[in-house]
Amino acid sequence: MKEWTLEERYRVLQSADEIADLHERITKSVYRQKFHVQPITGLSSDPNGFVYHEGKWHLFYQWTPWGAVHGLKYWYHVISEDLVHWTNAGIGLKPDSFYDNKGTHSGSAISADGELYFFYTGNHRDENWVRTPYTCAAKLGADGKVQKLPEPLFGPRDDYSEHQRDPKVVYNAEKNKYYILIGAQTLDERGTALVYESDQLLEGWKLAGQLHVPGYEKFGGMWECPYIVNISGKDVLIFSPQYTKLPGRGESTNHNVYFIGKMDYDTLTFTPETDYQYLDFGFDFYAAQGAANVDDPDKAILISWIGLPDNHYPTEPEEWEGSMTLPRELRVSGSRLIQTPVAGITDLREEEIPAEGKLPEFGELEATFTGEDTDLNLYTKADGSGGFRIHYDAAKKVATIDRTGMDKRFNENVGEILDMPLPNGLQKFQIFIDCCSVEIFANDGEATFTSHIYPTEAEHNYTLSHYNSLKIWKYKASVKDDFVV
Ligand code: FRU
Repeated sequence: MKEWTLEERYRVLQSADEIADLHERITKSVYRQKFHVQPITGLSSDPNGFVYHEGKWHLFYQWTPWGAVHGLKYWYHVISEDLVHWTNAGIGLKPDSFYDNKGTHSGSAISADGELYFFYTGNHRDENWVRTPYTCAAKLGADGKVQKLPEPLFGPRDDYSEHQRDPKVVYNAEKNKYYILIGAQTLDERGTALVYESDQLLEGWKLAGQLHVPGYEKFGGMWECPYIVNISGKDVLIFSPQYTKLPGRGESTNHNVYFIGKMDYDTLTFTPETDYQYLDFGFDFYAAQGAANVDDPDKAILISWIGLPDNHYPTEPEEWEGSMTLPRELRVSGSRLIQTPVAGITDLREEEIPAEGKLPEFGELEATFTGEDTDLNLYTKADGSGGFRIHYDAAKKVATIDRTGMDKRFNENVGEILDMPLPNGLQKFQIFIDCCSVEIFANDGEATFTSHIYPTEAEHNYTLSHYNSLKIWKYKASVKDDFVV
């Protein structure tokens, strides 16, 4: 594996020509996705600035241009009219100021009064590599380019650690105020969030205080990418507690969780109705962000990084890695989220193919079950061996997913076998397979499981036992791999 020097990782991109060859090379990879957003070159991680504005969905991803490595981060911009077809729109934010000299880190967007505003973390480091995270803003210009404000909205507080980042901006109609949630860490290394408030988007920001989530004063070491949304009258708080091990999640120290409850902006208290819940049960799911301006009181749209911090994936030697999930619709049922693939994704069904043991290169499977124990093994060899094995245990009401049988194994140290509990039993799986990812939606969104997967040529079969019905579709491609920088 290539060892990167700090200089190589943090090299500033001067011109598109510098990565043109890299783009040409990686577009030939058999693992390039066909209906998922992926890095134009190098590495993509967190979704940023996800918003609906004047008839278009804007999405950005954290991007290191040079290779499959975390380094100098840009925001790369993609646009869609339907959340299914995406086109590359070039660099959104670049680290070209004092305040973000070592990266334009994660953040969010909001559309207000016909304008589109962005809030992001300027990752400043001095010559001794000491970090100062600034909360910065930008606006979409008439030319379609993002223009930064020259000065940050505010700097970090010194009564918290250097980990203060990922501004999520929301408008609260009751208070007629804007709020920014910042992922943070206390000086004694406990994860939390800070709440800032202002009457206006680009000025007047002041700290309202630290967010209280009763019972969660000691939960994770840093709450990355906080996101708060109201769905059907309930508040949903989503974040990625880092540097901690949680039950049932193997050795991984990166998670994405949610609470359903009530947010009180007077006391800055989020009162959860239940214990925390996992947003997705898969191996590779992190830093999820919901879109702003969805304009439907009963649903939110969420997208996430397929990948984890501090992990390595088999496309590393090809000098690229990462992908976004499909956008998902979130709804609330009781104290749980229901997550379904974005409406419209099934328009990509090009052709139903006979269920004869072969998987399409990319597409969808829909299986309904009898309620008994079941084995669905994806990406097996022709003789049924190996593969990405899903075993459902009807007595325990748990599906166990095991990727140890794949030829290309990766991130063994964080665990290759995980459970997806299905407290209501297993009735249905809807599964989306693309060239390097699998997303499983169980029982119309009761639970989801997202994983990277890198099948070899010999691994394109499947086996299935104890089922009622199975349908398989080959998909049309919906993301363009054009070289736009
Ligand atoms: C989450 C994260 C964010 C940060 C960004 C940098 O994966 O660590 O907290 O802003 O990535 O790329």
